[in-house]
Amino acid sequence: MFGGAFGGAGAEVVIEEFMTGEEASFFALSDGTDVIAFDSAQDHKRVGDGDTGPNTGGMGAYSPAPVLTAELEAAVMDRIIRPTVATLAAEGTPYVGVLFAGLMLTGEGPKLIEYNCRFGDPECQVLMMRFKGDFAALLHAAATGTLATADAPAFSHDYALTVVMAASGYPGTPEKGGAIRRIADAEAGGVRVFHAGTAREDRTLVAAGGRVLNVTATGKSVAQAQMRAYAAVDKLDFPTGFCRRDIGWREVAREAK
Ligand code: GLY
Repeated sequence: MFGGAFGGAGAEVVIEEFMTGEEASFFALSDGTDVIAFDSAQDHKRVGDGDTGPNTGGMGAYSPAPVLTAELEAAVMDRIIRPTVATLAAEGTPYVGVLFAGLMLTGEGPKLIEYNCRFGDPECQVLMMRFKGDFAALLHAAATGTLATADAPAFSHDYALTVVMAASGYPGTPEKGGAIRRIADAEAGGVRVFHAGTAREDRTLVAAGGRVLNVTATGKSVAQAQMRAYAAVDKLDFPTGFCRRDIGWREVAREAK
């Protein structure tokens, strides 16, 4: 097939449904039998503003994703998450842990694009800014098959938004060693700067990876969280870093209507 241009990889063709709609991420915790929802987020995969340029691991995210309404979340639990957990248990391979469902919200309802078995990066940062309660106890309940009797996860009604500061060159070869200063200034007023790819060289904090920092703020709206996150970004002194300037743009536009 294909005149051998792809070697063995060209021996099989997979035809997939072409789905159109908006992407959103939904999270759930499973103990192998019971499964509980763990709220939603939306990330920004492309490196450039306006969702342009190459794909990355994620240049920013916000939570919750209002596009995933309570009604749609219930549909995702009923039609996607619970059947997955029940089928895995029935096949003798119960799944214990977090399910991260990458969804396409199509005109025919939510459809599953992929599952990840992690909280996501940078989705985890925005989920954790909003989670209220004893996270370790919840994970322990999942690990010990006792989710049915655990406290349901509670989340702040505020929005959280995180902006990834990446090292120049990312998602190609990132420039390592660039100095990062003024994190404490950026964190003033309740902003959290999570470290993703940093290291200490002597007494200086430096970039040591592609995605370097997650500047994460909360607000009563996505627009407010966005404004606070970028105000913090602008306080950072990280000359070899860059970020997208439009994280949350879809929801900010919807809020403005
Ligand atoms: N940001 C996507 C992931 O962690 O898979």
